[in-house]
Amino acid sequence: MSDILKRLEETRGAARLGGGKRRIEAQHAKGKLTARERLDILLDPGSFEEWDMFVEHRSHDFGIGEQKVPGDGVVTGYGEINGRLIFVFSQDFTVFGGSLSEAHAEKICKVMDQAMKIGAPVIGLNDSGGARIQEGVASLAGYAEVFERNVLASGVVPQVSLIMGPCAGGAVYSPAMTDFIFMVKDSSYMFVTGPEVVKTVTHETVTQEELGGAVTHTTKSGVADLAFENDVEALIELRRFMDFLPPSNRAVRPPRPFTDPCDRDEPSLDTLIPANPNRPYDIKELIEKVVDDGDFFELQPNYAGNIIVGFARVEGATIGIVANQPMVLAGCLDIDSARKAARFVRFCDCFNIPIVTFVDVPGFLPGTAQEYGAIIKHGAKLLFAFAEATVPKVTLITRKAYGGAYDVMSSKHLRGDVNFAWPSAEIAVMGPKGAVEIIFRADLDDPAKIDARTEEYREKFANPFVAASRGFIDDVIQPSTTRRRLARALHMLRDKQLANPWKKHDNIPL
Ligand code: HXC
Repeated sequence: MSDILKRLEETRGAARLGGGKRRIEAQHAKGKLTARERLDILLDPGSFEEWDMFVEHRSHDFGIGEQKVPGDGVVTGYGEINGRLIFVFSQDFTVFGGSLSEAHAEKICKVMDQAMKIGAPVIGLNDSGGARIQEGVASLAGYAEVFERNVLASGVVPQVSLIMGPCAGGAVYSPAMTDFIFMVKDSSYMFVTGPEVVKTVTHETVTQEELGGAVTHTTKSGVADLAFENDVEALIELRRFMDFLPPSNRAVRPPRPFTDPCDRDEPSLDTLIPANPNRPYDIKELIEKVVDDGDFFELQPNYAGNIIVGFARVEGATIGIVANQPMVLAGCLDIDSARKAARFVRFCDCFNIPIVTFVDVPGFLPGTAQEYGAIIKHGAKLLFAFAEATVPKVTLITRKAYGGAYDVMSSKHLRGDVNFAWPSAEIAVMGPKGAVEIIFRADLDDPAKIDARTEEYREKFANPFVAASRGFIDDVIQPSTTRRRLARALHMLRDKQLANPWKKHDNIPL
């Protein structure tokens, strides 16, 4: 017995040591933590239950048969974040560069399968040189097994990827199919083909960081949601983030205890909207003033800034927020903002998170760049996402709600449950000036007439009352009372039941 226990301890020790001291030091020298150090920060102390520590690869080619490290380059299992169950895998770059073998893939698949059965989120900490080169097609098969599970788990349990090292080639597609991607600056990258191939094929000279680093993917491509300075910051913020998410599509995250009073008035909101309707203001001020304790977890803050998305809480319960941002492109909808918000709305709908929409939108961004880039298809994604969503939907129009964008932004006509407007709301086909220049074109050389017509149009449509008289707006509310009114609406909607007609799946314009 004592021999077996000794052997057990030795094998565990070998697994814990991964690729050995030299490689651990090399990992630290790059400013990166090891797979296990990362789990220590991510999970509640003592909560990690490791699986498959004794799994080894089964390959013999290219001399790899003699090189076996128990665990085979990925640490898997389950643990807790703030007391809530999470399944996790953490790739160990010190073992064959964290590369994915058949056995390594099987370990990842095992936790994913279990997470789906139980109904708990899966977090992947990615740090891998990709397919285990020595294994060839067996490794590619392993990737495909993971991809398939990513798809089956989509909409069943939240999946979050934290990229903490290389992620290249087809390997990027597993994170790409998860719900959220976080990255670490200067040490992580994602690309389909690396700088050398790019140089050969397109003659472009580009660094890894420029091609697929955290800044690139959170500002230019929109592939990733957030970029962090280092491993520790990324893991701590990931813990905070997970606290907003429900465990699965079958369970609601129980409201957190809260102290911020729901009937809190916020007098400063009465003066948030500038007197000049063309002056911008920061919609984030509204968000932070109405949610619990001003705690707003924004996603993709540096990409398509004309729309803001993120999670917050009201009465302790998670809500998803979508808001036009007048400070960027006057809050217009364009290709990037429509894609960004559509994906977020669909996540909320999958996981029963109520959606609160703040509207100040002058319309869709005009121009050839947008039309050639298929704004019609991409804009339709957001329309589709809001229209199909069956979760509670509460909308507040603060100022402009013009044209098709009015319809798109969770309007009453897309089964909005509670639609509020501030007195400053302007709900019309277009702004007064543009409207008058079209319908009174004959009077264009008479400025006095045009001014009078513009005023007439403004009087008629640039307010919330025409829409309210039709019941498209449920109430025109005083800005300072917004938190109270939202809280009551969300409370009333807690037991909302709504189902879409049966179908295999829909056909969202991709
Ligand atoms: C086996 C690998 C490996 C791999 C790295 N290693 N990648 N072993 N298969 N894919 C090993 C190295 O041999 C080395 O072993 C150790 O990991 C660390 O690698 P280094 O090169 O020393 O580290 P670094 O300089 O930081 O460079 C990291 C790297 C580089 C950029 C990831 O290793 C690299 O380019 N690797 C190959 C990447 C690749 O082409 N992968 C296949 C992509 S295609 P020792 O023993 O010296 O420590 C793919 C397809 C997926 O993944 C398809 C899915 C459908």
